[in-house]
Amino acid sequence: VHWTDSQIKAINKIWTKVNAKEIGGEALARLLSVYPWTQRYFSTFGNLGSCDAISHNAKVISHGEKVVTSIGEAIKHIDDIKGYFAQLSQYHYEKLHVDPANFSRFGSVLIIVLARHFGEEFTPETQAAFNKLFHVVADALGKGYH
Ligand code: HEM
Repeated sequence: VHWTDSQIKAINKIWTKVNAKEIGGEALARLLSVYPWTQRYFSTFGNLGSCDAISHNAKVISHGEKVVTSIGEAIKHIDDIKGYFAQLSQYHYEKLHVDPANFSRFGSVLIIVLARHFGEEFTPETQAAFNKLFHVVADALGKGYH
């Protein structure tokens, strides 16, 4: 994957201001609300009975924070996201049995959450850079599925 300087700049400009707990919590809550079948992987997380319950569920928020923090680490390895996520991919495949289509869905909701939080700063160029990033992330996490 080739990255231009302006794509990297656009990603970093936003990412330095990302609060992982706030953005990650909202993104995972939206995933579980918009694609309710994804709730099956989180049966130990307690009450996921309504959008309101999901968005206030402390386990959802803290796991969303973990996932977005992990994406932040991947950004630091932007030229080798595939290598960086190799083990995590295998873990999602072998242990968690997560359908890899959900990785792209998470990217889509994350774009929406970023757009909501950053408003005008989230320009079309910025959206394009993040769209590319989340495709690369989803692809890397899908690599352990053989
Ligand atoms: C756990 C990252 C997407 C389901 C984790 C962990 C990380 C992570 C870092 C913790 C691993 C550990 O404890 O060592 C990511 C990233 C994603 C992603 C970067 C980006 C797209 C998803 C999706 C689902 C999912 C879409 C399901 C729909 C899970 C589950 C766990 C987990 C069930 C274990 C939770 C627990 O019991 O603590 N993920 N994940 N992940 N992930 Fe993902």
